[in-house]
Amino acid sequence: MPSVFLKTYGCQMNERDSEAVAAQLVAKGYALAPSEAVADVVLLNTCSVRDNAEQKAIDKMTNLAGQFRKQRPGVVLGFLGCMAQSRGKELIDQLPDVDLVVGTQKFHRVADYVDDLLAGRRDQVVDTDEERGSEATIKKHLLNGAAHGKAVSAFVSIMQGCNQYCTFCIVPYTRGQERSRTIPDIVAECRELVARGVREVMLLGQIVTSYGRRAERPAPSVDGQGPSTLDPRPSTSAFVQLIEAVHAIEGLERIRFTSPHPKGYGDDLVAAYGRLPKLVESAHLPVQSGSDRILKLMHRGYTRARYLDIITKLRAVRPEMGITTDIIVGFPGETEADFAETLSLVREVEFDNAFVFKYSPRRDTPAAAMPDQLPEEVIEARHAQLLATVNEIAERKNKACEGRMLEILVEGPSRKNPARLEGRTRTNKIVVFEGSDRHIGQVMNVRIVHAAPFTLYGDPAILNLN
Ligand code: SAH
Ligand code: F3S
Repeated sequence: MPSVFLKTYGCQMNERDSEAVAAQLVAKGYALAPSEAVADVVLLNTCSVRDNAEQKAIDKMTNLAGQFRKQRPGVVLGFLGCMAQSRGKELIDQLPDVDLVVGTQKFHRVADYVDDLLAGRRDQVVDTDEERGSEATIKKHLLNGAAHGKAVSAFVSIMQGCNQYCTFCIVPYTRGQERSRTIPDIVAECRELVARGVREVMLLGQIVTSYGRRAERPAPSVDGQGPSTLDPRPSTSAFVQLIEAVHAIEGLERIRFTSPHPKGYGDDLVAAYGRLPKLVESAHLPVQSGSDRILKLMHRGYTRARYLDIITKLRAVRPEMGITTDIIVGFPGETEADFAETLSLVREVEFDNAFVFKYSPRRDTPAAAMPDQLPEEVIEARHAQLLATVNEIAERKNKACEGRMLEILVEGPSRKNPARLEGRTRTNKIVVFEGSDRHIGQVMNVRIVHAAPFTLYGDPAILNLN
């Protein structure tokens, strides 16, 4: 059978989409190629969030096309996902060797299109149409294809799209309107994962705090399951109802989710951390800026005070809460005073870690047309300064773990050193330690003996009795 190599750019949603595409291809009999050099099909699942993510994928495809044109002209080349959605046929005009362009609502069609192209039934395929019910098509998993054989943690896509339209963000255009899967559909997927050995699920969406908000009349899912069964409990959001339903699955140990939005972060979600023990004390809550003026220009829908209030409430419920965030520096019109507000927010919250991004103008977004786009040097300097602050705090917080016993879920061989194992604390920190295969998938306590800037090192598990 032909083999496929799939490379993924961007976020966890993209990783999940790639896994579902790979599972689809494997189910049809395709093999997964260990590298692009030996593959019959090479697919790049793309990201559009910043210009450099798009450039990376375009450069990669340019190289592949040049390499294969002479030696192996039969290789099928394809772009999938966000950049495929936003640029469509333009990609083939720019790179005529590309055979396939598949947008974000058509991942479930990829295997059929690849079949057609390999069999010569079609020359080129561009499919970036919208499809009702497509949010429920990302459900097949390829667990045993995971690098270390046994997948302990799995991503589950609960919704697609975003209606928030932050002025810098291309996602509402590449991922479309918010559409949520039904609770029974998601629970069935999680149950199956647990039956296959998964111990932790990460519920994924661009704005999970909006889950089910637009689901008064959800589209019938593709497999014919009915609409969701939401309780009419006005004080409990659909998202918290979903977490409760997943929490009830026997054998599941941990639940995580990403990303919530501060605007929709209700007290019911804060309270869920207090009463649902499988919901681990870890929160990724994008803040973007510490300046109210910039937050408003970004159309974020909250203030600095509201953001800090959520953090305070979360820490009141779970003092150990690991908190991470996303921040953009150099948004149009950001002054030194605005930037100082971001620095002070970072110092005040003391994030366990933060992703700091340089603002990148995206096509058709309102911010790209705003006055006062900042010079590259200013953005660079603020980026470096903020990153140094973030890292200093992150290292200090890691150091504070030295000597402590922490509960970890063992995921498999360490990515840095495959002779060791790696697990994750409830607060989402990686712990590397010596153990044996039988520890994989176990929840265990490990004493932290050393904290490096981004990794914790634990006592050998061999010494523990469990
Ligand atoms: N709600 C999504 C956000 C997707 S984009 C989520 O699940 O996290 C991820 C992050 O990229 C955003 O939080 C933001 O910090 C950053 N980002 C988005 N658009 C950007 C742009 N135009 N320039 C720089 N960073 C951007
Ligand atoms: Fe993008 Fe804002 Fe939605 S960052 S994904 S438009 S919440």
